[in-house]
Amino acid sequence: MRTYYMAGNWKMHKTVAESVALANELKQALAGAKDKVMVAPPFTALAAVGQAIKGSSIILGAQNMGPDTQGAHTGEVSPLMLKELGVRAVILGHSERRHSYFETDELINRKVLLAIEQGLDPILCVGETLAEREAGRLEAVVGTQVREGLKGVARGDLPKVTIAYEPVWAIGTGKTATPDDADAVHAFIRSVVATMYDGDAAKALCIQYGGSVKPDNVAELMAKPNIDGALVGGASLKAESFVPIAAFR
Ligand code: PGA
Repeated sequence: MRTYYMAGNWKMHKTVAESVALANELKQALAGAKDKVMVAPPFTALAAVGQAIKGSSIILGAQNMGPDTQGAHTGEVSPLMLKELGVRAVILGHSERRHSYFETDELINRKVLLAIEQGLDPILCVGETLAEREAGRLEAVVGTQVREGLKGVARGDLPKVTIAYEPVWAIGTGKTATPDDADAVHAFIRSVVATMYDGDAAKALCIQYGGSVKPDNVAELMAKPNIDGALVGGASLKAESFVPIAAFR
């Protein structure tokens, strides 16, 4: 049976106490979840959420990490520090990192390679802006982000990598790509991966959709053959909206 990968990106929301309260609710409500579930609280709440979800199948994720293991990098967080807290997955290249903090494909690629080397499973985010889509540049933009983001990733490491397709115009806006539109971009991403590796690698790749995923649109998105999960922002901040997404079937 197909398994989905449902991830919650809490972004810069929630104190430690609020994070633990949500984690406790999720642990209970998702105890019998069929699918892979991950939550990515803010860095400050990772340790406490890690404790709260202990004994459950919920995976602890980080929203970002630095491109080095240690050194004079003020404000950065090392993969070693994340691992020590029980983090197993890391979101990299989110469009908010690309656009607000000017992260380049090259920097994101360094992080992807370092995450794999350190045993953290990366979620590589890609996606076009509305202007890029309207200018007919969707494939050029997303294709470059996929190729550059995966540069140097060995064929054998590809199963550790998830790609999240998040059209920038759909993030936090209430606008969702139609399931058909999203599926078409996911199929395009698979075709890029097939040219970089091979058809089997492309077929096996987990590709999440992100951008205004809600309880009432999750099932139709997940019904599409190329959509293997969701990266959820706003709706992941409350158990009442994240639970029906993470346990949509
Ligand atoms: P959203 O965010 O669900 O609030 O649109 C998705 C994301 O940025 O990962």
